[in-house]
Amino acid sequence: MKPLVIYAHPKTNGHCSTILGEVKKYFKSHKIKYDLIDLYAEKYDALLHEKEHYTAGGYSVSKRNKEIQKMILATDKLIFIYPVWWGSMPAVLKGFIDRVFVGRFAFKFRGKIPVGLLKGKKALVFLTTGSASWIYKLIMSNRAVKLIKNDILGFCGVKAKVCQIGGCTKLTDAQKIKIQKVVPLRLRSFLK
Ligand SMILES: Cc1cc2nc3c(=O)[nH]c(=O)nc-3n(C[C@H](O)[C@H](O)[C@H](O)COP(=O)(O)O)c2cc1C
Repeated sequence: MKPLVIYAHPKTNGHCSTILGEVKKYFKSHKIKYDLIDLYAEKYDALLHEKEHYTAGGYSVSKRNKEIQKMILATDKLIFIYPVWWGSMPAVLKGFIDRVFVGRFAFKFRGKIPVGLLKGKKALVFLTTGSASWIYKLIMSNRAVKLIKNDILGFCGVKAKVCQIGGCTKLTDAQKIKIQKVVPLRLRSFLK
């Protein structure tokens, strides 16, 4: 099964693009085929449309989102790469989750109990924060990590591991070296 990489960054030369570059390099050197959804590059429409508003009874899914849902069903490994913006994620990724990880596809309710429908899949999430990792954990209560790991992917039944890279302000050589070390290590254990 081909891993599916979901990338949400406006492509400036920085930490996330370095992570994506390392992920591509790893796949190339290990001859692993993968799919990539680059949300900014494809100008993904992040607005949940009226007919897609499933809590109001709209279960319509656009052609592109159906294709993406098929890609998700066809893999057991999801890789997300994005920066933390305002304790969360870039708006384009939030909109992607709103429109793709919808009721009846990613979860359902049995009575009042939510049931994740994407059980059996796992995810590796690369998050970058401007704050140092320890400050992010202690002072910001690790919000963005909990959001993606528990509230979003966990809710849908996906087991996620989060690799947070902190102190991402200006991309320095030291940060590049850290990313070049961390990414292959995390991928190796994720892809086992
Ligand atoms: C709109 C915006 C909001 C941000 N919000 C946060 C935040 O809530 N917490 C934090 O630690 N860093 C925050 N940052 C810093 C980014 O996380 C940081 O610039 C990014 O991880 C660096 O990755 P890049 O070089 O790939 O852009 C924010 C940056 C921007 C542009």
